[in-house]
Amino acid sequence: MNVKPVVENFATSGKCGTMRRMQPVVIVQHPLAQCHLAAIRAVGTPSHDFRRHLNHLARMLFLEATSDLPVREISVQTPLKQTHGSQLARPLVCVPILRAGLGLLDGILPLVPDAVVAHVGIRRNEETALPHAYYANLPANLSAADVFILDPMLATGGSACEAARQLKEAGALRITMICVVSCPEGLAAMKLAHPDVAIVTAAIDAGLNDKCYIVPGLGDAGDRYFGT
Ligand code: PRP
Ligand code: URA
Repeated sequence: MNVKPVVENFATSGKCGTMRRMQPVVIVQHPLAQCHLAAIRAVGTPSHDFRRHLNHLARMLFLEATSDLPVREISVQTPLKQTHGSQLARPLVCVPILRAGLGLLDGILPLVPDAVVAHVGIRRNEETALPHAYYANLPANLSAADVFILDPMLATGGSACEAARQLKEAGALRITMICVVSCPEGLAAMKLAHPDVAIVTAAIDAGLNDKCYIVPGLGDAGDRYFGT
């Protein structure tokens, strides 16, 4: 996949992904990903097309985010012969941040139908832009899993930082954040609070406006996805 590491001390994954990358931020620059991004940014894109493009883009981001997962070798009997195959070595947990993070699930789950889906409900206070956590449903075995936080937007980083905090408190050791649009403020907040969390994104935008919305961004991701 066409990716660009943007952190100077980016470390590539080890053989079969046995080593996790250290605090990388990866921008997926595949031309198709960037076309889907342009479509969901466009103000005239209706919800049904927004959902369709977001599904495709989420899948491409997830493919990159999982590209260094360790696998174990298994034996496979084809109709003709015994051969080797691969199986993920660890369970995989997807954690959409409600609401808008749900918009990334449809593109991802068909690739990993066995994945556990945990939920974290976090809503920004409209006045202060501070995160308000209102719901969590997390599985017990997080320490054994590869955990993927899903949220289209990384703005101030407050919501993502709170989600990562909750997941670590529940035992998660390997966390990757998948976000469609990020910005320097959100990336800095995550690097400060959770330097061990990898981030995969389709864009690092210029910054935040006075209402803490990403500019140019795509507007309110939840409202656009759900048509509210
Ligand atoms: C949006 C978005 C992120 C958060 C990002 O959710 O989906 O969760 O804002 O902003 P931050 O980085 O400054 O925390 P919102 O709070 O609007 O809730 P919603 O998904 O229910 O619309
Ligand atoms: N939440 C959104 O949905 N969009 C932004 O630009 C910032 C936070």
